Amino acid sequence: MKAIILYASTHHGNTKRLAECMAEYIGADLADLTREDAPDTSGYDIIGLASGIYHQSFHEAIRSYVNDTTFAPHQRVFLADTCGTSFRDYTRSMRKLLMEKGVCWAGSFQCTGYDTYGLFGKIGGIAKGHPNEKDLQRSRDFVRRITRE
Ligand SMILES: Cc1cc2nc3c(=O)[nH]c(=O)nc-3n(C[C@H](O)[C@H](O)[C@H](O)COP(=O)(O)O)c2cc1C
Repeated sequence: MKAIILYASTHHGNTKRLAECMAEYIGADLADLTREDAPDTSGYDIIGLASGIYHQSFHEAIRSYVNDTTFAPHQRVFLADTCGTSFRDYTRSMRKLLMEKGVCWAGSFQCTGYDTYGLFGKIGGIAKGHPNEKDLQRSRDFVRRITRE
């Protein structure tokens, strides 16, 4: 099983930390789509797409990758995000887009990430210290589960 995680993490590197943790645990390759063009992902069995949430959405670089990519029937895709407040499942619209493309769905993961955007910055930020070790352990459990299936 060959896996890659494509990520975008522009605020505090929260999603980068999450993506690196997941990648290390399952031996996946990693690419930061805000710094490099999307690599050729045709040879991968599992593709993870990880992003901070910016104005309720995944980063534009990840959305463009999904729009521009034709996924092979054997490829399974999972989503992961970090967000300031996790009351809402921010993976839903990306999941819908993937479903419309007929992608084989592997699952989604969300946790909070330190957020100092806008007014939150004035009060010292929210979700300080996140993703923390508990979040990272949950992310390892998640990728272990989906790579076993
Ligand atoms: C421009 C901007 C917009 C954001 N919008 C949201 C949002 O709509 N909902 C939310 O829960 N968090 C929001 N956040 C907080 C980030 O999603 C959160 O801090 C995330 O962990 C950032 O990930 P990163 O450090 O990998 O970029 C926003 C942050 C920024 C900078």
